[in-house]
Amino acid sequence: MSISFRGLHPHFAAEVSGVDLREARAPAALDRLRAGMDEYAVLVFRDQPFTDAEQLAFAQRLDGALHTKTGISALQKNRLGDEALTDISNVNERGEIQQREDRRREYSLANRLWHTDASFQDPPGRYSMLHARVIPPAGADTEFADMRAAYDALDAAMKARLEGLRVHHSIAYSRQTLGFDFSDAEKAQLQGAVHPLVRTLPRSGRKALYLASHASRIIDWPLPDGRLLLRDLIEHATQRQFVHRHAWRAGDLVIWDNRCTMHRATPFEDGRYQRELRRVTTLDVERRDADASSARGGTG
Ligand code: OGA
Ligand code: MN
Repeated sequence: MSISFRGLHPHFAAEVSGVDLREARAPAALDRLRAGMDEYAVLVFRDQPFTDAEQLAFAQRLDGALHTKTGISALQKNRLGDEALTDISNVNERGEIQQREDRRREYSLANRLWHTDASFQDPPGRYSMLHARVIPPAGADTEFADMRAAYDALDAAMKARLEGLRVHHSIAYSRQTLGFDFSDAEKAQLQGAVHPLVRTLPRSGRKALYLASHASRIIDWPLPDGRLLLRDLIEHATQRQFVHRHAWRAGDLVIWDNRCTMHRATPFEDGRYQRELRRVTTLDVERRDADASSARGGTG
């Protein structure tokens, strides 16, 4: 088995061949995948026939503990019966396409806002691994933006200005921009979290903007100033030159690093065609494989 990477974009994203992820357990193979994540931030694997259990097991082998609060557990029961397995689909518990007014459908439309997974939690998500089970005939690509390249492209004065700033992320905030109301009980469960606006990735030493539509304000800045800066930065970071678009096939697994990318869903005829994917996200806590042996501060 020889794992190889083929770059898909000038800045990031690669398609990986030569590996059946259900069988990937040798430390050398897992290390090669982690090194690929450090370099490319988004990895695409074709023809991975995962079951739910295999997908959950692989995610833990690659990156440790799983996140169980990446979605909206305050609002809905998980159809799949495991809080670590996020249902990215437009079907209800009977497997039928959701009604137009189904709150879960409206809720999942918010994936079309640029975001990173679980930035409204602490710890947030590190790697997300999205597996395609049923894909509609047209539309529903997923777009990714490289927040390292976006950071690198800022001028020195802006980089200096952003250093040390902290941002509040809230899922209630991002949903409210689409007109959602939340009950007081829901709001109490959705307080949000504070994270640095610029993150340094521990293994590569590269810096990245940490942004999402969940970003509601800059701590210690007046509200309108902070909100305008966040809006300008998201606009900057999602220019076409930083974006890769993935067209799904059933059996694809895509892994992205939430610390240094944003992503968003794109439209499809969701009242007509079924779309079903499963996502597993790891917790952004220190990794047990103890990064020690890996290249650090590499500039390559
Ligand atoms: C996700 C997500 C986008 C899509 O799974 O976290 O945002 O295209 N998905 O389904
Ligand atoms: Mn997402």
